Amino acid sequence: MPEPRPIAILGGTGPAGTGLALRWARAGETIIIGSRDPQRAQETAEKMRQRASTTKISGAENPAACAASDLLVLTVPFEGQAALLKQLKPAIRPGSILIDATVALAASVVGRASRTLGLWQGSAAQQAAELVPKGVSVVAAFHNLSAELLNGDDPLDCDVIVCGDDAEANQIARALAARIPGVRAIDGGKLENARILEQITALLIGLNLRHKGHGGIRITGLPPQAYK
Ligand SMILES: NC(=O)c1ccc[n+]([C@@H]2O[C@H](COP(=O)([O-])OP(=O)(O)OC[C@H]3O[C@@H](n4cnc5c(N)ncnc54)[C@H](OP(=O)(O)O)[C@@H]3O)[C@@H](O)[C@H]2O)c1
Repeated sequence: MPEPRPIAILGGTGPAGTGLALRWARAGETIIIGSRDPQRAQETAEKMRQRASTTKISGAENPAACAASDLLVLTVPFEGQAALLKQLKPAIRPGSILIDATVALAASVVGRASRTLGLWQGSAAQQAAELVPKGVSVVAAFHNLSAELLNGDDPLDCDVIVCGDDAEANQIARALAARIPGVRAIDGGKLENARILEQITALLIGLNLRHKGHGGIRITGLPPQAYK
């Protein structure tokens, strides 16, 4: 039987990356934590191996993580997204899928975390799609999941809307989302809808500040087959 492909989480040392790594590792996936610093990657991987009780999490510098997988997840702050993708371009394997969770929060510049930046491309995910090599499919997902809750042990009570122009990549991202306990994955249509996912994150951040919680979203009223 072929080895299942690993998931390389670029910028995987922050709360969004470690939360996804934890949940996927517990579901049996093989994870590579990427970082700008190989030592931080390895230290984070060691902590995550202990938390997830698995040996299937390793750490590597982002380019090496990229080169080792064709299933990439990007969890870096918006201010680092473009420069990192430019640096990684030669390391990204042809035909890879890049699942982008980046939110262009105004706090990346000087504004509030409860506002997003206006981008020419429309969203951080569309910016990513302009920066990856031709033939790499960019999918937007996981913007509306609380990293705090992902890093915990309880099932989540959230839906993940996945947007992307490549149907197969969208389906793969939805399958991964559905491996997180309590998460239902929904096809959100084209990549351009990522701008709405990012706006929802800004709204959730505002709600979390106002009500002191970890809000997520549930979409109701769709037929059962819409939920994975
Ligand atoms: N936190 C949440 O609840 C949440 C939820 C949904 C989506 N998101 C989005 O997911 C992304 C990651 O969130 P996070 O909270 O995990 O962010 P973070 O802790 O600020 O950053 C994640 C990792 O990115 C790397 N990084 C930081 N600045 C960088 C730069 N300028 N260039 C390249 N790499 C850089 C760092 O890893 P190294 O120093 O090890 O390289 C850091 O540990 C953000 O775009 C965020 O908006 C977050």
